[in-house]
Order: sequence, then C-alpha cells, then structure tokens
Amino acid sequence: MSQSEFLKAMGVEVYRLRPQREAQENPPLVPESDQWEQPEIHLTENSEEVVLPPSQTVEKPVTIADSLADLELAAVEEIALKCERCSLSRSRNHVVFGSGSEDADLMFIGEAPGEEEDRQGLPFVGRAGNLLTSMITALGCERDNVYICNVVKCRPPNNRDPLPSEAKACNHFLRRQIELIRPKVIVALGRVSAQLLLDTEIPLGMLRRKAYKFQDTDIDLVVTYHPAYLLRKPTEKAKSWDDLWDVRVLLND
Ligand code: URA
Repeated sequence: MSQSEFLKAMGVEVYRLRPQREAQENPPLVPESDQWEQPEIHLTENSEEVVLPPSQTVEKPVTIADSLADLELAAVEEIALKCERCSLSRSRNHVVFGSGSEDADLMFIGEAPGEEEDRQGLPFVGRAGNLLTSMITALGCERDNVYICNVVKCRPPNNRDPLPSEAKACNHFLRRQIELIRPKVIVALGRVSAQLLLDTEIPLGMLRRKAYKFQDTDIDLVVTYHPAYLLRKPTEKAKSWDDLWDVRVLLND
C-alpha cells in the first residue's frame, strides 16, 4: 500500500503530492540513521514484592505477578475478569482484557477502554477502533491476526486518563500478556501507553521516531499517536504513516 492509499484508507483526502512527499512514498527499507537512535529507555520493575534484607529468612511473599507466572492467557483473563484491585472495578460494566491472536507478531497497546469497549468487553470497537482497524489493514495485516489490549483493563469514568495507581494495579496483567503473546513488535498507541511501557514522562512527540526494545527483551517497540487523537486532529494522520512504515520494516526484518 502506498502512502496516498494509506491516507485515503485513514480518511485523509489527498489532493496533490509535492516532489519531496513523493520521495517518501517508498522510503528506504533501512530507516535513516538520524531518525533512529539506539534504545536507552527501559521499563522499570514494577513488582510489589517486599525486598527483605538477606539476614531475614522469611519466605518470599506471593505477589500477583507470581500468581500469574505459570498461567496461560485464558486463565490470566479469568483472574482479570474478577479483578477488584482498583476502584475502576466498581464503575465498569465489563473488564476489557484484550482480543486477537495469541500467536500475533504484532501487539497494539492502547490506554483504557472507552464507553463502547466497556459495553462490549472488547478493545477498540468504537470510532477510534475503526481507525485502528484501518491502520492495521494499511500494514497489510488483519485485525484477527494481531493482538490488541490496553494498559488499563477497565474504563475510567468519563474517559479520563487512567491514574498511575490504576495503571500499576493492571500492570501485572499487561506484563503477562506481553510474555505470553511474545510479539515481534509492540505498538504503543498514545502518550499513556508509551510513557508506561517506556517508564518515562517524556512527551509523546519526543518519543516518536525512535527505536526501542521493550524492557530487556528483543521485542521492538514503536510509539505512535492514539487513534482517538488522530480523529480529533486528522492533520496528524500523515505522520502516523511514518510510524507504521517503521512497524512494517520491523515486522519484515
Ligand atoms: N481507547 C483506548 O485506548 N482503548 C480502547 O480500547 C478504546 C479507546
């Protein structure tokens, strides 16, 4: 798919390509070195283990992370569906755990479910979800063959940003999902997801267009705009092409 076809699929009217834009139509397979830097940011350990001095011979406490460690995805989901680790459990209609292929090479991680997702119990099924589906198609993938989930599994009231404490309460589910899916590439959709996965407060605009590995794994991580932001600011859709191009290159590596 060409850039103009991609933009059309994303609902952007393409009138005319300037010469330098045409040159971007087939960017080199190996990204320009000035656009890609070596990863330096890593996700910090966010476990709730109590660290005891070596002299104390008390048994290691069982943490939520420990309790998920041997479980397969369906069993982790079963636990998540009953989760009451934060107050979002009191206002939710459904826990939105995730959907897609367990063998996916590509994993999209959004922020938190919205109204429609909370109603259906599925991620990205509202307007932003339709745009995400277009982005997935533009990558030459099918939605059923990727895995989609969120940092936070329950809808924050009035679609506010999830609180750090809510993200922390859900983090063990997300980590186990990543461990089990073991994708080639993770796409962080938007600021909340990117900042959590990279354990940073750097603004989204500065996080884009850089190469990262997720934590200490060999999983590539690409940061891009959240589809809901692209719906509000359609002029930014063209930039998401560059991010998706990186994803495509990494997937075909
Ligand atoms: N926005 C998100 O971040 N996730 C969804 O599932 C839907 C909208």
